[in-house]
Amino acid sequence: MPEKNVFMFSGKGGVGKTTCAGATALHFARNGLNTLVISTDPTPSLSDIFEAVDTQKPIKITDNLHLAELGTQEVKQMWDKKFGHEVYEVFSSLVSIEYDEFVDFITSILPGLQEEFMIDYIRELAISGTYERIVWDTAPLGQTMHLLNMPEMLSEHLKPAPKIYSRLKLGSLSKRPILKILEDWSEISAEDMEFLRTEVEFTMVTIAEALAVQQLEGVFFEFNAHGFKFSQLIINNVIKADDSEFLRTKSKQQHGYIDQIHTISSGMKTIEVPLFPYEIKGVQRIEEIGKAIFS
Ligand SMILES: Nc1ncnc2c1ncn2[C@@H]1O[C@H](COP(=O)(O)OP(=O)(O)O)[C@@H](O)[C@H]1O
Ligand SMILES: [Mg+2]
Repeated sequence: MPEKNVFMFSGKGGVGKTTCAGATALHFARNGLNTLVISTDPTPSLSDIFEAVDTQKPIKITDNLHLAELGTQEVKQMWDKKFGHEVYEVFSSLVSIEYDEFVDFITSILPGLQEEFMIDYIRELAISGTYERIVWDTAPLGQTMHLLNMPEMLSEHLKPAPKIYSRLKLGSLSKRPILKILEDWSEISAEDMEFLRTEVEFTMVTIAEALAVQQLEGVFFEFNAHGFKFSQLIINNVIKADDSEFLRTKSKQQHGYIDQIHTISSGMKTIEVPLFPYEIKGVQRIEEIGKAIFS
């Protein structure tokens, strides 16, 4: 199997996805690989944890490491580049709507579209060969789930589409492009799924707490159903000290959940990352996390 060079980090909010993604990217960069760490979280914290100041885009962190945050603005630009204006022209001939408002509307009626554009962006980046490693920090799980359902949603939407669009009072010239665009969409969506399946290494980040463990089972099931597999699981914030009653109690509780995690993830590569007594900010501390992941 060829080595994959895109690494995606998923998990519940607050479990340490960004921290682990940052640490993984830094590890690659330290090993001489030209690396991009990119976030598709609408409320990104990547530049924050690297304490990076946005002077140019992508932001240079250190040798071999660049950072990018993909926001709504960039997604709109991508939409624009692919086929935004064509669809907009048809729509705006029917209703009076501003372009920005239209993009907000269309991305809201097709949940997952925004995410679709994000994968597409990352796929194009991967194809371009600009970086040897791309580490992808995602939004909390919901986003990833939308992604997986996108192709089915598009094909559902496409079924009645010819009937609906043929009823629109438009010249035949405007009708065809809409259908063509929807078909193109399906095609891109299929290509993106193929990209996820063949080129992306999935890492799940979790913590040893009830809610996180409960969610894990559902996520593995859902991923499996779509033909995806996580290649590794990081259990973050594991207490490694036992020099107080408080820590012993807390650690014992964690171990109950860690056992459950092992049962759920049977056979998957599992890595424990210790809970540090301080926040993980700045290159040096991020590197500590990397040591725990790659030890
Ligand atoms: N192993 C750890 N030890 C101590 N603090 C951690 C650890 N991992 C993450 N943190 C802290 O937890 C908070 C949330 O982490 P973050 O990576 O932003 O989570 P997510 O991206 O999953 O929302 C941050 O303040 C981070 O510094
Ligand atoms: Mg995050």
